[in-house]
Amino acid sequence: MKAIILCAGEGTRLRPLTYTSAKHLIPIANKPVIFYSIEAIAQAGIRELGIVVSPHREEEFKQTVGDGSRWGIEISYILQPQPKGLAHAVACAHEFVGREPFLVYLGDNLLENGVADFVRAFEREEATASIVLYEVEDPRRFGVAQLQDGQVVRVIEKPAEPPSNLAIVGVYLFDEKIFEAIREIKPSWRNELEITDAIQRLIDKGYRVMPHLVQGWWKDVGKPDDLLQANRLLLERIVTHIDGEVDSRSRVQERVQVAQGAKIINSELRGPVVIGEGALIEDSFIGPFTAIGPRVRIRHSEIEYSILMEGSQIEGIGRIDRSLIGRNVVISKKDRRPEVLSFVLADNSQITLL
Ligand code: DAU
Repeated sequence: MKAIILCAGEGTRLRPLTYTSAKHLIPIANKPVIFYSIEAIAQAGIRELGIVVSPHREEEFKQTVGDGSRWGIEISYILQPQPKGLAHAVACAHEFVGREPFLVYLGDNLLENGVADFVRAFEREEATASIVLYEVEDPRRFGVAQLQDGQVVRVIEKPAEPPSNLAIVGVYLFDEKIFEAIREIKPSWRNELEITDAIQRLIDKGYRVMPHLVQGWWKDVGKPDDLLQANRLLLERIVTHIDGEVDSRSRVQERVQVAQGAKIINSELRGPVVIGEGALIEDSFIGPFTAIGPRVRIRHSEIEYSILMEGSQIEGIGRIDRSLIGRNVVISKKDRRPEVLSFVLADNSQITLL
């Protein structure tokens, strides 16, 4: 079986971060989002993976993800010229998947327990498609499924009045009939070819579509707050590992990882926290659920429940909380009265002064 991960699209809800990088390459717990889905696919025993990307992001993906050898798999890159919807993205991969059943994984989804059980169940089921479902309180921002006698009888994309509270998770298994269904659907109200409509088409044609309920947590990281929540969930499972230097005036509590070349000077790290390679933390407090990227420098500051990406510098900031800070950002405060704020901000930046 082959797999495809869908990573085209604009990532508009994560601007300005997505002006310079795809959302799938944003680090969570110091690892790009897409690495978690690649690991899950490799763990399920799938050896050939196609990643669907927008043409202007192809190089960035190739450089960050590579050819798959680090996971013992083979990765190909497939271009989707324009983000015309998930069904369109799947159709772009037709030649790559050929005639065998295949797994589709939306690149912004994270699943605590991977996809191996789902793949094994599909191999036993003899269905045309299988979809992963997760019970949520308010399913209106997802696709929603309705079940009857253990089968999926209806799927609907982002309904105003959901027929159940079973959200469709972004992981699907299909046989080749999905391509015929995709050819038969029309663009939706948001002008996209929806995979949900193609699945409904399979149901209407009398094919078997099976549900698979998720065990463990599921996160779709479309918005800043989702990234911070996913960061917390992933940091919750780290184990302590200290390769860098922690001086005798510093205190380390709970589970903390300090990568090689990082230096912690006269500071407190309260885990779960990860500190990337070559980072410097001086006279500071790094609180729970925080990921500090490689070569970040933090001096005289406090940071909690946040993600700081590679090369950023923070100096003299009382406390930073619930923040997503991109690469090479500089935030510093000079000690002077009266207080003045001075900014150089990209389009769609967000600043909240509390
Ligand atoms: O996350 C689960 C939800 O994902 C499901 O409940 C919905 O049924 C499904 O339609 C999808 O909804 P979203 O509105 O969240 O999809 P989004 O536009 O965010 O795209 C999901 C991923 O697919 C994202 O990683 C980008 C990629 N993509 C998206 C489009 C529109 C493509 O590769 N090509 C595209 O044309």
